[in-house]
Amino acid sequence: MIKKISIDELAPGMEVVRLSSEMWKHLPYLYAEPGVIESEEQVAALRKEGYRQVFVQLAEDNEGLTDEQRLDQLISDRDAAPPARERAPFKQSMRRTQVTYESAMSCAMRIVNDVKLGRKMDYQAAVETAGAIVDCAIRNPDTLICLSKLSAFDNYTYTHSINVSAIAVVFGEYIGMTREELVDLGMAGMMHDLGKTSIAQSIINKPGRLTAKEFAEIRKHPGYGFALLKDNKDIPSRVLEAIRLHHEKYNGSGYPHGLTRKDIPAFARIIGLADIYDALTSDRCYRDAILPNKALGIMYGMREQEFDPLEIQLFIKCLGIFPSGSLVLLNTGDYAVVRESNPGKPLSPKIKIILDKSMRPIPARTVNLAEEADGGAELEIIECADPGVYKKKLVGYMTAD
Ligand SMILES: [Fe+2]
Repeated sequence: MIKKISIDELAPGMEVVRLSSEMWKHLPYLYAEPGVIESEEQVAALRKEGYRQVFVQLAEDNEGLTDEQRLDQLISDRDAAPPARERAPFKQSMRRTQVTYESAMSCAMRIVNDVKLGRKMDYQAAVETAGAIVDCAIRNPDTLICLSKLSAFDNYTYTHSINVSAIAVVFGEYIGMTREELVDLGMAGMMHDLGKTSIAQSIINKPGRLTAKEFAEIRKHPGYGFALLKDNKDIPSRVLEAIRLHHEKYNGSGYPHGLTRKDIPAFARIIGLADIYDALTSDRCYRDAILPNKALGIMYGMREQEFDPLEIQLFIKCLGIFPSGSLVLLNTGDYAVVRESNPGKPLSPKIKIILDKSMRPIPARTVNLAEEADGGAELEIIECADPGVYKKKLVGYMTAD
């Protein structure tokens, strides 16, 4: 974990790091020469030179912490520590993420097949897929957020499990979880709704209103999922608990047990956030997808009911006001697709202008709104727009020049 400390706390043996962002250049009292501090004399000399603060790499000290305590710690530290990792270029990362997404689809299908046929699922093989998703999130998280909205696959059962896995991992990476935690989180996302395989398809895909009896059956799916997997000794308990408790809510209004915030495990809370976001922003048999920024607004309105207020705020910060993959209307009347978020400037992502006022294709042009704004240009996003028939074409714009 990277932490900003006072020069008075600096001690021999600590490793000074320079952030990938440029912010260190604007902090005149920040010592930013990377390397290990050799001696007390070196610290004294730095203090004498006027340095007051320094970013250091601290060893992870997770000993004796429960997942809940650790998540609380990560969330409370999140705003103090700026993102340290430099992102790989979007276009190349997007191609690799597409490959990962496709193999994750096959993996999700294999898991469901194994469970349906009563076979023990190959957990270790699936962990490799979750690891590939984690690598995508570390390389460039926007590519996963983008594909979760624009994937060319139509089967909700499988895309939803991969999307929840991807979104949860991106959020986990944002708050600073370890790779091991991220892989477990990715696995929990991939399997969170596995219990639905125990419920009749006529209920799962019913377009109309569910009867009380049908709804009661749906509410059993977290328990069914847990029961299907609990004897597989390869599966860590926090993954099983996330599956069993992903529909519990902050204020106790969730199911199956009506637990409140303090009793809902950290992994289950994160899967719950990713699950609702993906469900709201996906086309369902009973309603059309809600636009990403509206979905985040709805979720913010659910703070203290469904979600922990701090966690939903961080979730929105992580995805950005206009998440990657959103079609947006500009003040010029043209339409653009959001390519990459600009950390620190959520209203000014990097976009690709692709359609005119009448939604006719125009020669694509990439614009970094953060730089345009700095240059005094007038270009800005008015609102998210419905991609409608363009949805699948938007993926092509993401990988083209
Ligand atoms: Fe569920």
